[in-house]
Amino acid sequence: MPEIVLLSGPNLDLLGVRSPEIYGTATLEEIVAATSERASAAGFTLRHRQSNFEGELIEAVHGARESAAGLIINAGALTHSSWALSDALAIFTGPKIEVHLSNPAAREPFRHLSTLAPVVNGSLAGLGVLGYLLAVDAVVALLGSV
Ligand code: DQA
Repeated sequence: MPEIVLLSGPNLDLLGVRSPEIYGTATLEEIVAATSERASAAGFTLRHRQSNFEGELIEAVHGARESAAGLIINAGALTHSSWALSDALAIFTGPKIEVHLSNPAAREPFRHLSTLAPVVNGSLAGLGVLGYLLAVDAVVALLGSV
């Protein structure tokens, strides 16, 4: 089965206990399980990687070039600072979608910049776990249209 890679950035390993009023109560494991199920229903396997380290995420994007048809990323706060991760994503040629549980545009000014937005096909923000499911749908639809 073709693969979709899901990458989770810093502090997302603490979902469930981290600011539930902002990010909801689902754990990362639960989000990955729901996203995996959505991918399987469309005939894809989901490979997930979480890291609190920028370089590890960059290497995971490099690795996805070999294995994955599409990519979904919630880079956490690296979204707002990492041009290196943005550059890595630009090299990945398949469909790629940026996801955020919260809506960064409605939060503090430092969250308004996304270094990833210019290099992804699209961004889903503020929809909680639903954003991950819609990101799978988007990757699958984009793969079908190329
Ligand atoms: C986040 C939004 C970021 O601003 C924040 O740093 C995160 C989570 C989200 O999913 O809403 O870690 O990416």
